[in-house]
Amino acid sequence: MSRSTSHFRRAAIAICGSLGLLATSSLRAQGPAVEFTEQELRRIRQHSPLGPAPSDTTNRVSADAAAARFGQFLFFDSRLSANGRVSCATCHDPNQGFADSKPLAQGLKQGTRHSPTLWNVAYNRWFFWDGRADSLWAQAMHPIESPLELGFSRLALAHLLGQDEMLRRRYEAIFERLPNLQDGSRFPKAGRPVPGQPEHSHHIAWTSMKSEDQAAINRIFVNVAKALAAYEARLVSRRSAFDIFVEGLATNDARKKAALTTSAQRGLKLFIGRGNCRLCHNGPNFTDGEFHNTRVAPRHGGPPRDAGRFAGIDLVRNDPFNAAGVHSDDRSAKARVKIEFLTNVPDNWGRFKTPTLRNVAKTAPYMHQGQFATLRDVIQYYSTLDGALPAGHHKESILVPLNLKHVEIDDLLAFLDALTDEAVDPALLRPPSSP
Ligand code: HEC
Ligand code: HEC
Repeated sequence: MSRSTSHFRRAAIAICGSLGLLATSSLRAQGPAVEFTEQELRRIRQHSPLGPAPSDTTNRVSADAAAARFGQFLFFDSRLSANGRVSCATCHDPNQGFADSKPLAQGLKQGTRHSPTLWNVAYNRWFFWDGRADSLWAQAMHPIESPLELGFSRLALAHLLGQDEMLRRRYEAIFERLPNLQDGSRFPKAGRPVPGQPEHSHHIAWTSMKSEDQAAINRIFVNVAKALAAYEARLVSRRSAFDIFVEGLATNDARKKAALTTSAQRGLKLFIGRGNCRLCHNGPNFTDGEFHNTRVAPRHGGPPRDAGRFAGIDLVRNDPFNAAGVHSDDRSAKARVKIEFLTNVPDNWGRFKTPTLRNVAKTAPYMHQGQFATLRDVIQYYSTLDGALPAGHHKESILVPLNLKHVEIDDLLAFLDALTDEAVDPALLRPPSSP
C-alpha cells in the first residue's frame, strides 16, 4: 500500500468510526464496505453460532467418553474389513475433511456414490445421500456389511471382539458380557442376513442360527455401531471466520468483523439474498436436513438411475434398526414419529440430501457422485445450470440459473472458504493408542 492510500485509509477509518459506520464495513479488504439491512442481519444470525449437536436419545452411549474412545479406535481399525485393509477412515479420512477426495468411494469394490464428510454429522436428521438411515448408529451398520465397503459381517465382528483381549475387555466394561462365542455350532465364523440372496454363504450361516443367538449377535453389532456413533458425534467443527464475523456484528467489534473480507461479505449477501442458497443450506449447519433435486446429471452420463430419496424412504421404513425398532434406547413415541409419519411422493425421485457447507472447502470433489471437482465448478453450475437434467415434473422451483458475474462467483467462493474452521483437537483425528 502506498503512503497516500494508507493515509487515506486511516482518514476513512477515522471518519467511519466517528459516524458509527464501522458496523457495516470491513477494514481489511478492498472495495466499498458491505452494508446489510435489518432483514439480512436477521438471516445472517440464523447461520451462527453452530451450537451443540442435538442429543441422540436412541443411543444411550452417545455422550459416553469411554464408548466414544472405543468407537474411535474401531473407526481406524482395518480388521473390521473382509481383506483387513479397509477401515471407516479409508473413505472418511480426517486429513481429507473426513471424506476421501475421490469422486466415487473405493472400498473392497468401487461404490456408486461419493463419500460425504463426517463433519457435523450428528446434526443430521437423516443419514446417507438418500436418508436410508435415521440415526448415526443405524448408519454405521451399513458400511461394515456392505460388500462394496468393508465387506465384513456381524458374526465376524463379534468374533473379533471375542478374540482380541483388549477389545473384549473394553466392550464388556462399556456394554455387557459377550456370550460364549467359541461354540462354532452356535456362532459360525462369518454370517449376516443377505436379503434376496438365499444362496449366499453368509446368509446360510446366519439362518442356521437359533433366533436367540441371532439376537445376541445383533445386540453386539448394534453396540459397536453405537460406539462408532459416539465418536462421530464429536466431529463438530469449530469457529470459522464467518462465525467470528457474526460475533463482531453482535458486539460491534471492528476487528472481529474484519475476519470476513469484503469479497466474502458480498458473497454472504448473495448467499442469503439473490442466490437463494439459504433456502436449502439453512441454519447453523448450512443444511435443512432435507432432500432436493439439483438436477445434476449422473457422473457417467446417460439417463439418471439413482432414485435417491424415493428409494431411501422405503429402505429406512423397513430398516429393523430404525428408531421405531427394539434396538432404539428411546422407546417414547417422540423417537418413533419421525419414521412413522414418513410418506413417499413421486417427486422424491432423484432428490439427495442437502450437505453441510461448513468445512466444504476441504472436501472436494462435490455432489453425490463427485460430479464437480472444485467449488468453482459447483457455483458455475448454480449460475448456468449447464448440463442439468430436464426439469420434468420434479422441477425444484427454487433452482433457476443465477447468471452470476465473475466477481460474484469469486465472492461466493470467498464466503464458502470462510466457513472453514479453526484447528480441532488433534487427538480427535487419529486412532487412540488403545481401545
Ligand atoms: C468404501 C468407502 C467407505 C467406507 C469404508 C465407509 N464409508 Fe461411510 N460413506 C461412504 C459413502 C459412499 C457414503 C454415502 C453412501 C450413500 O449415500 O449411499 C457414506 C456415508 C456415511 C455416513 C452418512 C453421512 C451423512 O451425512 O449422511 C456416515 C455417518 C458414514 N458414512 C460413516 C461411516 C463409518 C462409521 C464407517 C465405518 C464403519 C464408514 N462410513 C465406512 C463411504 C464409505
Ligand atoms: C434447492 C435446494 C438448494 C439450493 C437452492 C442450493 N443448494 Fe447447494 N446443494 C443442495 C443439494 C441437495 C446438494 C447435493 C446435490 C447432489 O449431490 O446431487 C447441494 C450441494 C451443494 C454443494 C456441494 C457440497 C458437497 O459437499 O458436495 C455446494 C458447495 C453447494 N450446494 C452450495 C450452494 C450454493 C452456494 C447455493 C446458492 C448459490 C446453493 N448451494 C443452492 C441443495 C441446494
